[in-house]
Amino acid sequence: MANTTQLIAVLDLDTREQAQSAIHAIGDCGWVKIGFQLFTRCGPPVVEDALSMGKQVFLDLKFHDIPNTVAKAARAGAELGASFMTVHAAGGRQMIAAAREAVEGTNARLLAVTVLTSLSDDELRDEIGLQETAAEVVPRWAGMAIDAGAHGIVCSPREIEAVRAAIGPEPAIVTPGVRPAWAGKDDQKRVMTPREAAMAGANFVVVGRPIFAHESPPHAVRMIQEELQG
Ligand code: C5P
Repeated sequence: MANTTQLIAVLDLDTREQAQSAIHAIGDCGWVKIGFQLFTRCGPPVVEDALSMGKQVFLDLKFHDIPNTVAKAARAGAELGASFMTVHAAGGRQMIAAAREAVEGTNARLLAVTVLTSLSDDELRDEIGLQETAAEVVPRWAGMAIDAGAHGIVCSPREIEAVRAAIGPEPAIVTPGVRPAWAGKDDQKRVMTPREAAMAGANFVVVGRPIFAHESPPHAVRMIQEELQG
C-alpha cells in the first residue's frame, strides 16, 4: 500500500487567480483539495479550472444536513466533476447512504469525516455529550460510514491504524496533518511525515502550507512524492 500513496495539494486560498497560480505551481501533483474557503468565494469556476488543468478535485465541503439536502448537494458536486467529496459521519447512516446513492453512476467517491481533531475529549464529553473518547468514536463511526456506503475516511495520521482495522483493506484513507521533516508544523499539533503516513496505511496525504510556503513548490511536491514512494 505504501508505494501507492498519492499527494493531494491543498488550495486554501481566496481568489481564482491565486488558485490558478497554485495549480500551475504544483507541477505533476495530480490532485487538488478545494475547501469551503475557496469554494465559497469563487464557486464552481475554480473546480472547472482545476479540471481543465488536468487535476483531479477533492471537493472538501463536509456536507452535514438532512439526507435529501446532502444527496442533492453531493449530486451537484459529482456533476461538477469532483473525484472526492466529504460528508460528516455524524450526519448518520441515512444521510451517508443517500449521498452514496446520489453519486452512483458518476466518478465521485464519498469520504466521511469522523470527529474533528480540533475537539478535545473534554469537549466531546461535557459539551457534545458523547460517552466515548475520540479514540473510541473515530473507528466506530468510520466503520458505520463505510457500512452506509462511504468509499473512504478522512482521519488524522494518528488514527490511521485504528480506522484501517475498523474498515478493512479496501476503502480509501485520506489524511491531513502531514508534515515533511524539512517543513514547519504551522498550527498542526500531532503530525506524521509523508513516509510515516504511507507506512501507516494512508492512500492519500493532504498537504498545504509546506508546499506553498516552500521557495519552489514544484520541488516541494517532488520531495514529498519521493518520500511517499519510499
Ligand atoms: O496547510 P495544511 O497542510 O495544514 O492543510 C491541511 C488541510 O487539511 C487544511 O485544508 C485543513 O483544513 C485540513 N484538515 C486538517 N486537519 C483535520 C481536518 C482537515 O488539517 N483534522
